[in-house]
Amino acid sequence: MDAVNQALYEAAQKVRKKAHVPYSRFPVGAAILADDGNVYAGCNVENAAYPLGACAEGSAISAMVAGGGTRIHRIFVIGDGDKPVTPCGGCRQRIREFAGADTVIFCAGDDGEPVKYTMNEILPDSFGPEFLEDKS
Ligand code: THU
Repeated sequence: MDAVNQALYEAAQKVRKKAHVPYSRFPVGAAILADDGNVYAGCNVENAAYPLGACAEGSAISAMVAGGGTRIHRIFVIGDGDKPVTPCGGCRQRIREFAGADTVIFCAGDDGEPVKYTMNEILPDSFGPEFLEDKS
């Protein structure tokens, strides 16, 4: 693992321990290296009204925006189990908002060993902000 991934892995693991997951018992952590050079982390936050739960990736994106970051350079997601935890469909689109086709997404399971994807691999032919550029 390179130094950036090590830092993202540690941030994602740390925040994963704070996940509010009384319903799924499936804690997830996500850490973003943003364009401002900072690392922003988030965990999943579930709700008794189930659909209101927030994913780790969305929480990390909210932290990034609140902190002043505007682009995702790299994101690391970690969850339970033998398989790497990949972002849900909704979170793929959330990441896409702040990412390019070649932005790298690292996904890991329990062993922390990351599998690398690009944005375009996990959300091909995607819709994004540039489609609306002429409208604003
Ligand atoms: N979850 C995430 O936070 N990120 C993912 O990439 C996959 C799923 C959360 C949502 C829910 O709180 C729990 O994991 C089980 O789906």
